[in-house]
Amino acid sequence: MRKLASVSEIRSFLRPHRQAGRRIGFVPTMGALHEGHRSLVRRARAECQVVVVSIFVNPTQFGPNEDYAAYPRPLDADLALCREDGVDAAFCPPVEEMYAPDSATTVTVSRLTDGLCGAHRPGHFAGVTTVVAKLFNIVQPDVAYFGQKDAQQAVVIRRMVRDLCWPIEIVGCPTVRESDGLALASRNAYLSPAERQQALCLSAALNWACERIAAGERAVPALIEGMKRRIVDAGPCSIDYVEIVDADELTPKPRVEGRCLIATAVRIGKTRLIDNRVVDADRLAR
Ligand code: PAJ
Repeated sequence: MRKLASVSEIRSFLRPHRQAGRRIGFVPTMGALHEGHRSLVRRARAECQVVVVSIFVNPTQFGPNEDYAAYPRPLDADLALCREDGVDAAFCPPVEEMYAPDSATTVTVSRLTDGLCGAHRPGHFAGVTTVVAKLFNIVQPDVAYFGQKDAQQAVVIRRMVRDLCWPIEIVGCPTVRESDGLALASRNAYLSPAERQQALCLSAALNWACERIAAGERAVPALIEGMKRRIVDAGPCSIDYVEIVDADELTPKPRVEGRCLIATAVRIGKTRLIDNRVVDADRLAR
């Protein structure tokens, strides 16, 4: 596996592969790799001839009061996992390589970024779409892999790629969870043992909502209220949002119909956790 830090190095590495017509798969990450990231890498390995992983903690997607400085950066362990999973190249640029001091260009996706995490993390998605656009231009993959764990991010990236006519296939991969249901996340490392236990309230509330929907409940307010109650009852926390929206347009749904995204973001102690489930009410009804 090659570890490459500059744009020119990764371009030179990929040039012969592209000329030979090899399918290039790309997994963008911020490192602190876990089984969630690795599921994306393994899928890329199974489907592509060349696999590139980027490891870059992107400063522009963190708010001023967020955890950019504290974000875990276990680079050697991450590189070992990439090697184990058969990655061909790990692109690990320093911040200066990605952002010139007088950088003046951002890529933004409107509407889809207004709600959910966008409403609570101003500027976050502009940071994500800008860095992913740059990474796509650098790597020029045939296919890129994103986790359903960050459902809004996957929807936004898909739309950006379509709107900008990039010939890149976006593959969404299911959320990998601990055996007790907690969605794997690099930020889970911040949780104390008690908070780790309390954090189960996110997946539990989502499961409860899915069960209610399977049993025929279609009224969104009742579902949201029930989920919020379950989250609050688990212990002290601050709920950013609990919402049920259209899974593709991310617009609020008054009733559960069609493909719905049930999404939540909750702060427990100093850790912000997100989780979601997609339900297809039309399929359930049949
Ligand atoms: P990061 O949080 O490191 O996540 C990288 C990729 O791994 C994302 O596509 C994310 O959805 C996926 N992922 C994280 N946890 C997962 C889980 N439990 N199951 C399945 N997939 C999971 O998302 C980012 O980085 C950044 O915003 C990035 C796209 C790299 C741009 O900076």
